[in-house]
Amino acid sequence: MAFPLRFLSTLSLCLSAAVLLHQATVTSGCFSMEREALLDFKAGIHDPHNRLSSWIGQDCCAWEGVICRATTGHVVELDLRNTGTFDRALRGERMNSSLLALSHLKHLDLSLNDFSGIRIPEFAGSFKKLRYLNLSSTRFMGGIPAGLGNLSSLYVLDLSYALYVDDYGDGYPVDDLDWLSHLSSLKHLDLSGLNLTRIPDWFSSVNMLPALQVLNMSFGGLDSIPVSVVHANFTSSLTVLDLSFNSFNSTLPKWLGNVSGLTSLGLSSCDFRGAIPDAIGDLSALTSLNLGNNFLLEGIVPRSMANLRRLEELDLSVNQLSGTLTGWLEQLTNLIVLNLSYNLFNGSVPASIGKFANLTGLYLGGNSLGGVISQVHLGNLTRLRVLDLYANSITVSIGQSWIPPFQLRLIYLSSCRLGPRFPEWLRFQTQTQELTMHDCKIAASLPNWFWNFSSSTVTLINLSNNRIGGRLPSSLSFARLEELYLNSNIFEGPLPATLPSTLDTLYLSDNSFTGQLPVWPHVSLALLSDNMLDGGISSSICRWTYLQHLILSTNNLFGEIPSCLGESLQNLSILGLANNHFSGAIPNTIGFLIDLQLLQLKNNSFSGELPSSLQNCTNLQFLDLAQNNFVGGMPPWMGENLPQLAVLRLRSNMFSGGIPRQLAQLGRLQILDLGNNNFSGSIPHSFGNFSTMVSTSDDGEFIYDLFDVSMKGQDLFFIKNLDLLKSLDLSNNRLTGEIPEGIGDLAGLQNLNLSRNHLQGRIPWQIGGMESLESLDLSMNDISGSIPESLSALYSLSYLNLSYNDLSGRIPTGHQLQTLDDPSIYMGNPDLCGPPISKSCSNNKTTQNDMQEEYEEEILEWLWFYISMGLGFVMGFWTFCGILFLKHTWRHAYFHMIDDMYDRVWVQWHLFLRRLFGR
Ligand SMILES: *[C@@H]1O[C@H](CO)[C@@H](O)[C@H](O)[C@H]1NC(C)=O
Ligand SMILES: *[C@@H]1O[C@H](CO)[C@@H](O)[C@H](O)[C@H]1NC(C)=O
Ligand SMILES: *[C@@H]1O[C@H](CO)[C@@H](O)[C@H](O)[C@H]1NC(C)=O
Ligand SMILES: *[C@@H]1O[C@H](CO)[C@@H](O)[C@H](O)[C@H]1NC(C)=O
Ligand SMILES: *[C@@H]1O[C@H](CO)[C@@H](O)[C@H](O)[C@H]1NC(C)=O
Ligand SMILES: *[C@@H]1O[C@H](CO)[C@@H](O)[C@H](O)[C@H]1NC(C)=O
Ligand SMILES: *[C@@H]1O[C@H](CO)[C@@H](O)[C@H](O)[C@H]1NC(C)=O
Repeated sequence: MAFPLRFLSTLSLCLSAAVLLHQATVTSGCFSMEREALLDFKAGIHDPHNRLSSWIGQDCCAWEGVICRATTGHVVELDLRNTGTFDRALRGERMNSSLLALSHLKHLDLSLNDFSGIRIPEFAGSFKKLRYLNLSSTRFMGGIPAGLGNLSSLYVLDLSYALYVDDYGDGYPVDDLDWLSHLSSLKHLDLSGLNLTRIPDWFSSVNMLPALQVLNMSFGGLDSIPVSVVHANFTSSLTVLDLSFNSFNSTLPKWLGNVSGLTSLGLSSCDFRGAIPDAIGDLSALTSLNLGNNFLLEGIVPRSMANLRRLEELDLSVNQLSGTLTGWLEQLTNLIVLNLSYNLFNGSVPASIGKFANLTGLYLGGNSLGGVISQVHLGNLTRLRVLDLYANSITVSIGQSWIPPFQLRLIYLSSCRLGPRFPEWLRFQTQTQELTMHDCKIAASLPNWFWNFSSSTVTLINLSNNRIGGRLPSSLSFARLEELYLNSNIFEGPLPATLPSTLDTLYLSDNSFTGQLPVWPHVSLALLSDNMLDGGISSSICRWTYLQHLILSTNNLFGEIPSCLGESLQNLSILGLANNHFSGAIPNTIGFLIDLQLLQLKNNSFSGELPSSLQNCTNLQFLDLAQNNFVGGMPPWMGENLPQLAVLRLRSNMFSGGIPRQLAQLGRLQILDLGNNNFSGSIPHSFGNFSTMVSTSDDGEFIYDLFDVSMKGQDLFFIKNLDLLKSLDLSNNRLTGEIPEGIGDLAGLQNLNLSRNHLQGRIPWQIGGMESLESLDLSMNDISGSIPESLSALYSLSYLNLSYNDLSGRIPTGHQLQTLDDPSIYMGNPDLCGPPISKSCSNNKTTQNDMQEEYEEEILEWLWFYISMGLGFVMGFWTFCGILFLKHTWRHAYFHMIDDMYDRVWVQWHLFLRRLFGR
């Protein structure tokens, strides 16, 4: 026994000596090799804020971010995470393998610094003892070295956003994740924000990690996920899984139900579709479940959801989920945030949400919920901050004396029924930021206390589309108000003279406001149409320098547009003055408004010629000068210099001269209305070239878009008089010459009105190509010849007027024309015959032969027309047509078939177009 004892005492002596020796090393600083390595590392770094200023002297263990193990003195931790703003980031410019001298390093954190100059070094895989590696948001160039797979002791690996992403959002692709499978101790893996588009089998790499607890692969560009797997290795230990913001385009994976330890599951914005599986109820440990923004999840929420008793956050928003909230929601009493908005839920809101004592956010907007919400629901929700019932048909029934137990920040009640009385409980909400009560059936005067409602916090108030009355105070005192919508109510009296300087958007249209237009220099969007404002626009408006949209339509305003407006209001993009009594000319300074997109002066008494400076307004999309006293010609620059024009209405003025052919260069034009003027000359041949009118797709919608965006879903008041979206109206002018054949190319046009001119010649057979035409008016011209058979092919035509021309011959029948059987369509053409008019066609042989020839020729022209468009499907008919051409005798033999053939050609052509354009 003596020997071992002696051995032990010798050993302990040696150990104490080693400890003594070691303490000596530590007191004199850290190991010099490690210090040198750190200094070398520092030399490769640009440090604009001197964060490493403490990195001087011998004792590197005392340096900022360096931690040594007390017993050994070795550097074990290097924590250089940038906790400040981005400008405090260290900029890595060089990193060499001398850093490997830190051979005891266990913890390395370089997160939130900027290494966009260099790659993740290959030697990073040689820190054998590393347990924690955080390169989050470091923007390294290049890929991820496979050598990281040698870090077999790693517990935590955070590579989120570790690689550089360019200005277009494209990140360096990761080529390979096979190395992951060697990290068998890994518990926490964050690969979010990496470009994983090249790793279709990401799942099998991850599935090799049996100890994994936290996995984040959100924003990865992943596009596939196995729906069923034999065995998911990582299911036993996983507690947090975040795969949100990928595009799987699949149903929810079946194996999810096996990951029974999950406490947090993030699958939002993943393009998942189909039903939520019953197995979701097996995840009873979940505290957070996010399936929002998948758009295509559908069906009812399974009852098993009620098992998720620990849920604190549930987000199912922006999907197509349906059914009621009863049977599953009542049980989830621990909920803090419930977001079911933008689905198809119906039924009523269960009263048991009143027991969700910790609820802070209740988002139910954009569903089809009904029923009643009352104090029973809300009475105990002391922590509620967000109440979103927007766009449902819920009746909010709360007594006028109720004092709510909560202080709401966001209140969205639009389209719920709150009225007819104004809800008094709002009076006690003093910290609200946004209140929307659009269309809430309130019919009452606005109570005086409302002008102090959350007056130091509220930024948005929307009370539009009710029947709320009263007068506005002369000065509004909300300190932070940015947007105020009181439009479509019954407010009266003068407009407030002063507004909070924060107020940017003010909608007061469709009320009964009177008096003069004030100047609110800070407001940029002012909508004041449909009131009873009177007086003129004084030049003080030129102080209103933030103005972008000013809509004063339908008031009693008069006088001239002050000329300083152009020079001063350089941000103006929408100016609507329609339906007032304004007069004078458009000031020449209009040319300074280079952002002008919409100018509507319709129905006033403006006069003079169009100022040539208008051509400087190259962003103009909508120009409506109808019903004024403008004179002069239409300058060619309208076609050349206003390329964005989509709507041009000069109707009912005294414009004269020719219509410039350049107009057809307006590639976005969809409404051209020159009716009721004194234009003369012929219709330019170029008129077949309006590309928007040629197209049958709904590319004209952008007008709606423009105003939807700028008007935030309010009434499309500009275009409510424009029933037709693609329209060409030249009626009631002095136009002469023939209708250009090219007009038949305007396949998207819905309205063509050339009536009340002096047009001559025939109706071109090409008119049959205007397949979208709903209304055609050629009445009161001098058009002659027969009515082309192709007219009967206009399947959408519901209004036709050919009266008072010199048309002759048999009126074509069949197809759409059969439904247009009002004889007045053809009135005033004495040489027309056949139904629907009473004059029958005589058996004049010559005439009939003529007609047959004409008919036949027309058919052939049609076939040629299709073929020349180079569309493959008509090739079959080409054979047929070729035979007809070559063998003249066959023509007569087949003539009886042509009628039949013509039908089929047409029908197939039409179907083809429908398929082509998806209409
Ligand atoms: C991912 O990388 C691929 C290949 O380089 C690239 O085409 C794609 O744009 C990148 N995507 C993202 C979102 O970074
Ligand atoms: C589970 O992990 C082991 C090794 O960790 C691996 O051999 C096996 O293939 C994995 N199973 C699946 C289904 O990927
Ligand atoms: C998504 O999947 C459906 C059904 O398999 C398929 O029809 C559709 O084209 C896919 N969408 C995309 C964008 O891959
Ligand atoms: C509310 O939260 C507290 C902790 O903040 C918790 O103790 C309590 O159980 C929760 N109540 C309900 C009803 O979830
Ligand atoms: C509110 O809480 C009180 C006290 O806990 C309880 O008596 C009452 O029933 C609750 N009301 C609702 C509507 O749940
Ligand atoms: C219109 O543009 C021309 C040429 O760019 C410029 O000389 C002129 O001053 C502008 N007119 C107005 C009124 O802005
Ligand atoms: C028949 O045609 C001839 C020659 O075109 C013409 O002179 C005659 O008036 C026509 N008869 C009737 C009844 O239309």
